[in-house]
Amino acid sequence: MKIKKPEKIRIKIALPPDKSISHRLLFFTLLEQGKYKIKNLLNSKDVKRTLYFVRNLGIESKKDKESIVIENRGLKEPEKILYCGNSGTTARLGTGICSALSFNFFLDGDFSLRKRPMKRVIEPLRKMGALVYGRENDTKLPVFIKGKKLKGIKYKIPVASAQVKSSLILASFLSKVESEFEEILKTRDHTERILKYLGAKIECEEDRIRVFPSRINNFSLKVPGDFSSASFWITLGILHPESEILIKDVNLNKTRTFYMKILKEMGARIEIDLKIKEPEPEGDIYVRTSELKPVKIGFKECSKMIDELPLLALVCCFAEGESIIKGAKELRVKESDRLRNTTRILKKMGAEIEEIEDGWVIKGKSKLKGTRVFTYKDHRMVMLSVCAGLLAEGETEVEGEKWVEISYPCFFEEVKKIYD
Ligand code: S3P
Repeated sequence: MKIKKPEKIRIKIALPPDKSISHRLLFFTLLEQGKYKIKNLLNSKDVKRTLYFVRNLGIESKKDKESIVIENRGLKEPEKILYCGNSGTTARLGTGICSALSFNFFLDGDFSLRKRPMKRVIEPLRKMGALVYGRENDTKLPVFIKGKKLKGIKYKIPVASAQVKSSLILASFLSKVESEFEEILKTRDHTERILKYLGAKIECEEDRIRVFPSRINNFSLKVPGDFSSASFWITLGILHPESEILIKDVNLNKTRTFYMKILKEMGARIEIDLKIKEPEPEGDIYVRTSELKPVKIGFKECSKMIDELPLLALVCCFAEGESIIKGAKELRVKESDRLRNTTRILKKMGAEIEEIEDGWVIKGKSKLKGTRVFTYKDHRMVMLSVCAGLLAEGETEVEGEKWVEISYPCFFEEVKKIYD
């Protein structure tokens, strides 16, 4: 894909549905027998992996234009290997669920997922009595699981990870035992929030979650727009010298929108119109060209906007002065090493960005120039490169465009609308 900086951006965006919530609603249909309806499910490669996962456990599904109707008439042992592709959420949440079901399972992933850490879920699940075995001393996919009823635990999760938290909540819920999980920092809370809304007995204090034996109701829910996908448009809207972007129906859950808070502190002109409160807050976001100050942030801030950090690095390239982003080591174990790859991409385009062990030091107001960029088979690196290309002088050629299918299938169609 070849990209040129448009003179003006004036556009209204309809986002793809939220990836995290789409995965979760599909997994929740495994928790109780009955009928479910999910409207606006994300039709991306990652979510298709979770759909494949639940179907292999006996779930029946029928799609129509706007929704998917799902029936759970009892689960069965999968005949096939549960292939999770590129999707960390499928593998981590799936491992928790399988550990608590009385069948045998094999889980695997693609070249990227096989490199990503699984010990963070395997270790606590074993403390619950789970029989989970993985490659490289039980730390990586593929994993084998001999599912069984687990026992409850009290556990402090040593990494800031919503996937680990959700995996443990689901394992505890399915085993009908009482557990308590503490987070080092509160991460996205869709799992506990929606399960509670559906009738589960879950108590949440700031960074503590208690799960009790309980049940959930069958549901019919609509998935809101994905804030992480919206972040591409927010970034573009504030950085482009002549722009106005309206983003419709975005999930505004506070555990997801921290990126906007930091941008506002930097001086970004962002307005929010909250429209729906339950089960997940939802509304519109309006952004305009902004003058930005630099930022200095650490682990606490980084963990609250982990998927948006590469875009924040781009924002810092346009701010007035030096920015320091530290405490972002987790980026090294995402779909690719995003600390290294963000640096490679932005440096190649002329940014003054230095990679440090756990972040970046970025000098602002450097002029970006179009060039050919590689995106390392990582959807968020593709979107970062396109955003940088829409702000750079000259032409940018972004390789690997098909990887956006992981989270934002119609991304390039939306980008083309900028020029209409
Ligand atoms: C996700 C949690 C985050 C995030 C990922 C989706 C989720 O991962 O990076 O894109 O749906 O729970 P970690 O839990 O590994 O931080």
